[in-house]
Amino acid sequence: MERSIHPSGSAWAEAVAAALVQRVADHPALRMCLATGSTPRPAYAAAVAAGAGFGATSILLLDEFGDLPPDEPASCDRVLRTSFVDGARPADYRTIDTGAADLDAERAAIDAWIDAGPGGALDLAVLGLGVNGHLGMNEPGSPVDGRTARVDLAASTIAGAQRYFEGRAAPTWGVTVGLADLLAAREVWVLATGRGKSEIVARATEGPATTDVPASLVQLHPNVTWWLDPAAAERTGWCRRASGPA
Ligand code: GLP
Repeated sequence: MERSIHPSGSAWAEAVAAALVQRVADHPALRMCLATGSTPRPAYAAAVAAGAGFGATSILLLDEFGDLPPDEPASCDRVLRTSFVDGARPADYRTIDTGAADLDAERAAIDAWIDAGPGGALDLAVLGLGVNGHLGMNEPGSPVDGRTARVDLAASTIAGAQRYFEGRAAPTWGVTVGLADLLAAREVWVLATGRGKSEIVARATEGPATTDVPASLVQLHPNVTWWLDPAAAERTGWCRRASGPA
């Protein structure tokens, strides 16, 4: 597991963006699964501003809420479009239609999208982190071998999402790419900033690898980078070593 800690704000965002731009320069047809949430937004903006050639990439939306009215501004699709896709103009952008009449067919189609990549795996999964350790909408207890699934959201996830759904009840379920495919990606990035994530970052990186904390399962992955700011890293040994006596 690698860690990359950068001062919060533009330095953090530009570090993540520079790495993303480099990955795409190395592999123009990169197939990525991208998280929404507030954490990655500045990094996506910096990557778009860098004017990198995302034109041959393929992007899969990591997760989507259920019970969305048409044109819901808080949908994960809308957030990823406005924060990245509209500017990056990838060759392919696959959303998750949680309003599909046949949700099982939609879930299978997402799995097929992943399977169609080289080796049947994503090249890069860019993930955020829930305060309960969820990845995407894979809440605590999600199966490590699970693929795209309809999931009920944890109470803390619903409460956290409420800030995006001003004046409306936040959804209680969603559809997410499963842990099996996130952990099978050739490279995994977990993005976390701010003191509010410091406790779960420490548990996920230094506690046992357990389905109780889905993000801890990335410890089992051979190519993981945690992109943190000092506040998010402050309870980890990485930070203690960096700031402690020699
Ligand atoms: C949501 C999303 C996750 C996201 C997480 C953290 O529940 N489903 O994909 O990573 O919350 O969001 P934020 O970055 O806003 O803290």
